[in-house]
Amino acid sequence: MMHAYLDNAATTPVAPEVVKAMMDVYNTVHGNPSSTHAPGRKAKALVETSRRSIAKLLGVPPRTVCFTSGGTEADNHAVQAAVGCLGVTRIVTSAAEHSAVIKATQVAGERQDVEVVHVQHHADGAVDMGHLASLLASSKSKTLVSLMHANNEVGVMVDLARVAAMCREHGAYLHSDTVQSMGHYPMNLEQLDVDFLTCSAHKLHGPKGTGFLYVNPTLRIDGMIVGGGQERMLRGGTENVAGIVGLARAFDLAFEHMEAHEAHIRSMKARMVEGLKAHIPGVVFNGDSHLEDRLYTVLNVKFPEHPNGGMAVFLLDLEGVACSGGSACSSGATMGSHVLRALGFHDPSQASVRFSFSRYTTEADIDLALDAVAKVFAPAAVEA
Ligand SMILES: Cc1ncc(COP(=O)(O)O)c(C=O)c1O
Repeated sequence: MMHAYLDNAATTPVAPEVVKAMMDVYNTVHGNPSSTHAPGRKAKALVETSRRSIAKLLGVPPRTVCFTSGGTEADNHAVQAAVGCLGVTRIVTSAAEHSAVIKATQVAGERQDVEVVHVQHHADGAVDMGHLASLLASSKSKTLVSLMHANNEVGVMVDLARVAAMCREHGAYLHSDTVQSMGHYPMNLEQLDVDFLTCSAHKLHGPKGTGFLYVNPTLRIDGMIVGGGQERMLRGGTENVAGIVGLARAFDLAFEHMEAHEAHIRSMKARMVEGLKAHIPGVVFNGDSHLEDRLYTVLNVKFPEHPNGGMAVFLLDLEGVACSGGSACSSGATMGSHVLRALGFHDPSQASVRFSFSRYTTEADIDLALDAVAKVFAPAAVEA
């Protein structure tokens, strides 16, 4: 049976170059980076070389990159540090954030008496910048703004430079979950004045369970996971050496070939959009995710009412097509999507499905998915 993997926003296949780099570590580097003997120093050198190469691509000092277990940990750390170390008592965020940020801010609200305010969105899913400006202007408390760069479900993007300028004007800190955009868009932090950014390796063809938190060098924060002095006291625990090397290799590949990858992915997405329009009359794209200025890896499709709608992801899976009906991390769950609900795109009578693409997506994948969609949503099934 043919298969098409179109759930790259959930996770991407690990690049063969990354697998090789990681296998070399597993096969040849056995030391603990904290050990002072030669094998330990070799492991430590790999961690620090990886940190330097990632930092260079972002245009920041290496010490600003703190390796984590991925995006969820990095998001939690940013929110907890802002509240616990920087005196933040008000968080401006959005109901359409990833659950890592939603839950972390909710917990800060409940346990640490922090006011959590949600910014409004326009009908197309974009953050209402006027509302954000008024929330910042009216703020009397030390504020953290936490807004993701690219929404993982509908691909709506935030103009980070503009939000950063607004935050600076009002003395607010800025955290952005850049898990879906890191490695897919240029990210020059010499020009972008943010406080915290988060990255997850498995969204850019690196390994699962590895990522980092960028912390602006002007900030002094504590670790969230304590116990060892690793990561300059920011994150206790023996480093995932192979994972970190894999992340750095994935970063290199992503930045080196970014334009070519982007052009390929955009052409795959365009083929999907055109095919859907041709096969399925009345199809719409949640958050205008088909537009050029949306995250180019993601397409969120709302299908016309159909008896197969409620089972769409399951039926597409039976046809060999892997896609998602909810958020990345709850794929397969039946809870639906908090993002679609928050942005007003949820309609219980119409199935919404996210297709997401990568540099490994082929025309054959798209054509297989289009055939599968045509079968699942065939008019005949309505009559039957
Ligand atoms: C926008 C966003 N933030 C955070 C995460 C969590 O990252 P990780 O899986 O590395 O914990 C994800 C994963 O789906 C995501 O899409």
